Amino acid sequence: MAAGIRAPEPRVLVCLGALLARWGAAGLEAVVIGEVHENITLHCGNISGPRGLVTWYRNDSEPVFLLSSNSSLLPAEPRFSLANASSLHIEALSLLDEGNYTCREDLNETRWFQVWLQVASGPYEVEVTISSTGTLPNGTLYAAQGSQVDFSCSSSSWPSPMVEWWFRAPDSRSEPFGNNLTVSCFALLLMSTNLQGNYTCSAMNMLSGRHRKVTTELLVYYPPPSAPQCWAEMSPGSFKLQLTCRWDGGYPDPDFLWTEEPGGVVVGSSKLGVEMLNQSQLSDGKKFKCVGSHIVGPESGASCIVQIRSPSLLLSEPMKTCFIGGNVTLTCQVSGAYPSAKILWLRNLTQPETVIQPNSHYLITQNGQSSTLTIHNCSQDLDEGYYVCRAENPVGVREVDIWLSVKEPLNVGGIVGTIVSLLLLGLAIISGLMLYYSPVFCWKVGNTFRGQDMDDVMVLVDSEEEDVEEEEDAAEVEEEEANEREEVPKEIHKHGHIHRVTALVNGNVDQMGNGLQALQDDSSEQQSDIVQEDDRPV
Ligand SMILES: *[C@@H]1O[C@H](CO)[C@@H](O)[C@H](O)[C@H]1NC(C)=O
Ligand SMILES: *[C@@H]1O[C@H](CO)[C@@H](O)[C@H](O)[C@H]1NC(C)=O
Ligand SMILES: *[C@@H]1O[C@H](CO)[C@@H](O)[C@H](O)[C@H]1NC(C)=O
Ligand SMILES: *[C@@H]1O[C@H](CO)[C@@H](O)[C@H](O)[C@H]1NC(C)=O
Ligand SMILES: *[C@@H]1O[C@H](CO)[C@@H](O)[C@H](O)[C@H]1NC(C)=O
Ligand SMILES: *[C@@H]1O[C@H](CO)[C@@H](O)[C@H](O)[C@H]1NC(C)=O
Ligand SMILES: *[C@@H]1O[C@H](CO)[C@@H](O)[C@H](O)[C@H]1NC(C)=O
Ligand SMILES: *[C@@H]1O[C@H](CO)[C@@H](O)[C@H](O)[C@H]1NC(C)=O
Ligand SMILES: *[C@@H]1O[C@H](CO)[C@@H](O)[C@H](O)[C@H]1NC(C)=O
Ligand SMILES: *[C@@H]1O[C@H](CO)[C@@H](O)[C@H](O)[C@H]1NC(C)=O
Ligand SMILES: *[C@@H]1O[C@H](CO)[C@@H](O)[C@H](O)[C@H]1NC(C)=O
Ligand SMILES: *[C@@H]1O[C@H](CO)[C@@H](O)[C@H](O)[C@H]1NC(C)=O
Repeated sequence: MAAGIRAPEPRVLVCLGALLARWGAAGLEAVVIGEVHENITLHCGNISGPRGLVTWYRNDSEPVFLLSSNSSLLPAEPRFSLANASSLHIEALSLLDEGNYTCREDLNETRWFQVWLQVASGPYEVEVTISSTGTLPNGTLYAAQGSQVDFSCSSSSWPSPMVEWWFRAPDSRSEPFGNNLTVSCFALLLMSTNLQGNYTCSAMNMLSGRHRKVTTELLVYYPPPSAPQCWAEMSPGSFKLQLTCRWDGGYPDPDFLWTEEPGGVVVGSSKLGVEMLNQSQLSDGKKFKCVGSHIVGPESGASCIVQIRSPSLLLSEPMKTCFIGGNVTLTCQVSGAYPSAKILWLRNLTQPETVIQPNSHYLITQNGQSSTLTIHNCSQDLDEGYYVCRAENPVGVREVDIWLSVKEPLNVGGIVGTIVSLLLLGLAIISGLMLYYSPVFCWKVGNTFRGQDMDDVMVLVDSEEEDVEEEEDAAEVEEEEANEREEVPKEIHKHGHIHRVTALVNGNVDQMGNGLQALQDDSSEQQSDIVQEDDRPV
């Protein structure tokens, strides 16, 4: 149809071409910018009022007829139509419509107008690609701290758009990236947490002024810096075992999987890392493994192991003695319990055994996994009997019996006092005799004493002091004897003295024999006494 109309007019158009060229050179053309798919109206000049016959041409390599206000001439394409008697209306613009258009108006005189139509397209399909990242189930992207991340932005646009990247960190304003660079690609070499936020690519068609932007949220993840830690404890309230696994410092929080080792039977998996175990799942020496897995952490995760153990009791003395009115301390030492055992003192006067509650009579102190029960003011009726130390954790229970015998205090103080008096007397007699018969000999002997066995002389003095002290606190000494921890080293100390005294006597003075004999008797008496106590409950 359009070709049929165009065919009879080439001659006219050639003439027009020359005229149009003149107009174009004069620079009187208007510039109109349209966008693809839009409609546009090109005006034939800016004259208002009645118009003459208007004809529109397209002037590319040669003028091509488009449209005339002479209704007997059909438009070259149905997209072209006349608006307001003179304007060219083009529907559904395409990039091919870009070019120079000319209108001729025949009124009194013929006038020419030129319009330069520029067609812009887009930007459409703005696409942001952020590489070396992962995608969360909800579509959000994440990158690992320290990794390299490449950003690129593409769009379809004519002419090429101006691309700008903007970054917005949480709780801050958007800022242009890279100092107002108009680039479509860039890379961040070492991702850091302060680069977490929304990245916006903005593409702008400078011809049409149309711009589109795409915002992509990028999270920067990092695994916890150190190894996970796990432990077992008695859960407060119930008597269950609670396994806890902690692996702090990462973002986001890791996931935890508890398994039995070996075998790998799953105990549970959670975000918390806490699992409760029933007694039936526990046995002495069993191991549990916690594997922490982080989205950007090591592939195989990071793990830690706990081994649960039932308590063992280290008992030093199955029997203790307390003197009436005195104090006694029973000790119970737990070892190997994991988690830590709860230590209870019980009496089995009745069945079931009753738990001893601390009061003015009973003092219970616990230091780590060692517990002591101090009984004040022992009485035979009330306190003699079996005491039970019970250590329990969710893995197991251990009990040990301690027999406490309560007895009358012995008058050891009197015996000691007598011995000391005898010793002093003996010494005095010997010294007196020596001085009387030979002061020189005495000086010599004294010299020998000092030169050879100075220690012995000093020890002898020490022993005296101690004996005097003991004489003073005769009653207390007996009670101290019952106090196991203090008593044992003291006893050894005392025996040491005795041995040294023996050396002195053997070497030099026979006369001291009596006193020494008494001392030795006393010590053996004490020993046999202890043996007797030991035998009693059996
Ligand atoms: C262009 O004009 C036609 C006819 O007047 C109309 O149907 C169409 O909606 C218009 N398109 C736009 C993008 O305005
Ligand atoms: C028409 O265009 C000319 C030159 O561009 C201008 O001087 C004149 O004011 C315009 N007239 C109207 C009615 O717009
Ligand atoms: C219009 O077409 C003619 C003939 O091809 C050409 O010589 C002239 O330069 C064109 N004018 C413009 C403004 O493009
Ligand atoms: C309109 O076009 C027809 C056919 O080309 C022509 O015969 C007629 O004279 C034209 N009318 C005017 C007013 O130019
Ligand atoms: C036609 O002219 C009227 C009045 O001058 C104007 O309001 C209208 O927008 C014009 N139409 C077109 C398609 O240019
Ligand atoms: C339209 O004409 C101008 C000069 O008037 C020229 O610079 C431009 O390139 C022409 N456009 C096309 C598409 O030929
Ligand atoms: C033609 O132009 C003259 C002067 O420029 C004017 O007087 C006359 O009215 C015009 N005729 C028409 C039909 O516009
Ligand atoms: C996607 O999930 C992550 C982690 O759960 C969250 O931080 C982010 O805000 C979510 N994004 C959207 C768009 O919901
Ligand atoms: C990033 O964009 C999402 C929606 O796309 C919005 O929910 C979030 O608050 C934005 N974050 C920042 C830091 O602007
Ligand atoms: C970026 O540069 C463009 C042009 O150079 C300027 O118009 C714009 O305001 C600049 N933007 C910022 C945020 O400086
Ligand atoms: C027994 O212990 C109580 C309280 O600690 C103390 O007051 C008392 O003196 C002690 N008795 C003896 C004989 O050590
Ligand atoms: C207390 O325990 C001991 C040792 O196990 C036992 O011989 C004794 O019969 C128990 N006494 C009672 C009242 O159960």
